[in-house]
Amino acid sequence: MPSARAFIVGNWKMNGLEAELAEARAIAAWLDEHPVGARVGLCPPATLISRMAEALAGTGIEIGGQDCSAEASGAHTGDVSAQMLRDAGAGLVIVGHSERRADHGEKNADVAAKAKAAAGCGLEPIICVGESLQERRIGRASAVVAGQVRASVPLVLAEHAFAVAYEPVWAIGSGLTPSVVEIEAVHRAIRSALTERLGERGAAVPILYGGSVKADNAAGIFAADEVGGALVGGASLTAESFTGILAAA
Ligand code: PGA
Repeated sequence: MPSARAFIVGNWKMNGLEAELAEARAIAAWLDEHPVGARVGLCPPATLISRMAEALAGTGIEIGGQDCSAEASGAHTGDVSAQMLRDAGAGLVIVGHSERRADHGEKNADVAAKAKAAAGCGLEPIICVGESLQERRIGRASAVVAGQVRASVPLVLAEHAFAVAYEPVWAIGSGLTPSVVEIEAVHRAIRSALTERLGERGAAVPILYGGSVKADNAAGIFAADEVGGALVGGASLTAESFTGILAAA
């Protein structure tokens, strides 16, 4: 991994009730005994953020939201603002996840506006990009992803901490992953798009890989050029599977 510290973030998606905080506590307990030197984050559903922040206070595990509104406040029933996430104890927020893009019609411009709102409130956005299977089959993966980066990363982020997560849509929850060579090719394209857009600052942005990361493929992915960590869905839901990935960092 090129950057000094791997950044490994669990995305619980629409999973987790009070009882599952036990998994988060078990992850913290494991890290206490096995200091891995990685930055570790967990993004539970919004309803659990404040309780998880309390449960993990002092452990070093960072808490994040899974989405935020681009608006600061007002008449937006059901939406959660960046400031609300921060108030609840989050320091991170995922924006532009492919499930948001597919289920809620979010476009690159919406994602950029959310990232800007998040950074403006002191949250560190994790901006997700990734190609469809069809785009990969026709050899357009790197071009599509670089285009998403150019359109989803607002210029204001040159002044803020943020990360990009490369998550091929076809690899999410499918058990399929691109080869290490394919991951490296897309990560290099993301790096070029970031430096082209943000200059020197773009060279330091962590680029995470996401999509069916498990304990048994994590070490190979982490060793790939330009891979600065992972965004983990299914395998972040239990301490047993998530710590298997952390052990590979
Ligand atoms: P997965 O999900 O690890 O279950 O494939 C990754 C993600 O969607 O962030």
